[in-house]
Amino acid sequence: MSYTKRILVTGGAGFIGSHLVRLLVQSYPDYLIFNIDKLTYAGNLENLKDIESAPNYRFERIDILDADAVNQLVHHMDFHAIVHLAAESHVDRSIHDPLAFVHTNVLGTINLLNAARDAWKEDMSNRLFYHISTDEVYGSLGSTGLFTESTAYDPRSPYSSSKAASDHFVRAWHHTYGMPVVISNCSNNYGPNQFPEKLIPLFIHNIRHRKPLPVYGDGQYTRDWLYVVDHAKAIDAILHRGRIGETYNIGGFNEWKNMDLIQLMCRLLDEKLGRPEGDSASLITYVTDRPGHDRRYAIDASKINSELGWSPSVTFEQGLSLTLDWYLNHQDWLDNVTSGAYQHYYDIQYKNRF
Ligand code: NAD
Ligand code: DAU
Repeated sequence: MSYTKRILVTGGAGFIGSHLVRLLVQSYPDYLIFNIDKLTYAGNLENLKDIESAPNYRFERIDILDADAVNQLVHHMDFHAIVHLAAESHVDRSIHDPLAFVHTNVLGTINLLNAARDAWKEDMSNRLFYHISTDEVYGSLGSTGLFTESTAYDPRSPYSSSKAASDHFVRAWHHTYGMPVVISNCSNNYGPNQFPEKLIPLFIHNIRHRKPLPVYGDGQYTRDWLYVVDHAKAIDAILHRGRIGETYNIGGFNEWKNMDLIQLMCRLLDEKLGRPEGDSASLITYVTDRPGHDRRYAIDASKINSELGWSPSVTFEQGLSLTLDWYLNHQDWLDNVTSGAYQHYYDIQYKNRF
């Protein structure tokens, strides 16, 4: 079959990538969706079991640091668009091993940019390099204000610095080589298939197993939470209707202090697990803070709302309930990803913190 568009998604076996790949494969049967992923600890083909044999889906295991493999694929497949999600994504891991983040997030992005520039050099019209970034590049807010698309970059962790650097390289390829690019910067995602090193799935897992809930610092840090499927829908809108050279902030209009969110999860899980009220909250344990911990993130998502008509489709109450149910019903998924190397990470990350 000949496809109207061939789209490359990098990091499609990860949390957000797998939701995006599913959305694109199901919404556009006339597109070929090609997923490449190194399958690090965070990449899991189980996430895509339901669509793995769809006729318009392909997967290849490729490390974006392997420039030859990336070049060959990008030349051979003549993609119309590259949606780049592959990254090291966890702030705590970046504090232990910053170089891994420089390698994948910076050098990996440059490899993709180079491959696209070379493959598309004859004619860049009708092509798009879409880079998925984070609100963390803007730094940390005080108790008021929102990040807009023109907020100056002020990254403060090795993770956010590597993402900020990759954003700069993407813009440099636009200005220097005429590459058609678009960037989106999103707030904290939650939902099914998120690796349980991040706050929400980690705490669900620990509550389930009656393990301590490690709250960093005073627990008064604030994040804006967005349901992952709504992020995938925003990416779809930008992929099709975003303006070249532009940046779009994506957020949930949904700020929570960590402790308020944790208390809510504890209450809901007590109900869902049939445990007495207060049972899960008794596991809350204040631990040593994350070094350089950003105090507050909050996104002004009015540009994507007014230009592209996007807004979140589920409320936080709906999204959180769906998420808790998914993890409770997929204990096997959690058990698989929390064995082996994960245990080693968990021991190192939380050793001496309690
Ligand atoms: P994730 O860690 O769940 O998934 C990352 C994926 O990238 C994994 O499948 C992994 O195997 C793959 N990968 C890592 N290194 C690779 C390499 N060298 N070559 C090929 N594949 C590689 O991350 P996520 O939470 O799904 O985040 C996806 C993207 O969205 C990242 O770029 C992240 O910075 C960005 N983002 C995440 C959030 C969030 O809340 N999770 C919010 C805003 C932006
Ligand atoms: O804002 C977007 C970013 O959100 C993404 O770019 C990152 O990829 C993603 O990991 C996420 O970063 P955070 O650092 O905000 O997410 P995390 O789930 O690690 O932490 C959320 C908050 O919870 C943060 O204030 C730290 C706190 N926390 C986290 C963990 C893992 C704890 O208090 N205890 C914990 O054990």
